[in-house]
Amino acid sequence: MELRAVEKSYARWAPIYDRTFGALTGVGRRRATAILNALGGEVLELGVGTGLALRHYGPRVTVTGVDYSEEMLAKARAKVAGEELKNVAALCRMDARKLDFPDESFDHVAAMHVISVVPEPERVMAEIARVVRPGGTVLIVNHFRRDRGALALAERLAAPLADLLGWHSDFDRQRVLGETRLRLVEERTLPPLGMMTLMRLVKAG
Ligand SMILES: C[S@@+](CC[C@H](N)C(=O)[O-])C[C@H]1O[C@@H](n2cnc3c(N)ncnc32)[C@H](O)[C@@H]1O
Repeated sequence: MELRAVEKSYARWAPIYDRTFGALTGVGRRRATAILNALGGEVLELGVGTGLALRHYGPRVTVTGVDYSEEMLAKARAKVAGEELKNVAALCRMDARKLDFPDESFDHVAAMHVISVVPEPERVMAEIARVVRPGGTVLIVNHFRRDRGALALAERLAAPLADLLGWHSDFDRQRVLGETRLRLVEERTLPPLGMMTLMRLVKAG
């Protein structure tokens, strides 16, 4: 999606996101934050959206969230204030393709339901690889294109509606695997129905 389309789409999604798409995708957020809580350290959450994951981070994690949509970030800020989430270091408006952080600033990076939304996902993966420290973990939760079955057909039919939906329904998993500094160490599909996949990648140490 182009950035302007992202802005428009997520301005529309923000008021209803937590009760719709957000409510259906909690498993990935809980699994990813459980992994990060066990690792501990400074985490960058890319495309933090309305901040649905923020309450799941434990005390051993400090999290910085970035997103391009002001409307989504406003919802995240309200959660941080309302729930007094003390381990959220900052929430910033930023384009994930051009992160305003020095190299190797974070121990780990999470991007949940984001990589099929951003323009130029390969550039975003390169930015992730730049800002994560050697040995750090990168968690990607996303829906990826299927090659067979009725759902594969539905994904292809919905593909031209990306700007309306707010994501690409037929996103190819290879697009996150081309970044040579990051090595895939685990991949599993998530309930319900295996719609989402969690990938764990590690930056060469
Ligand atoms: C489907 S939402 C996912 C939000 C959250 N991660 C979650 O799991 O609920 C996708 C988010 O990616 C953000 N986004 C899309 N393109 C972006 C970009 N280039 N830079 C930063 N955020 C972006 C959107 O604004 C939106 O909040």
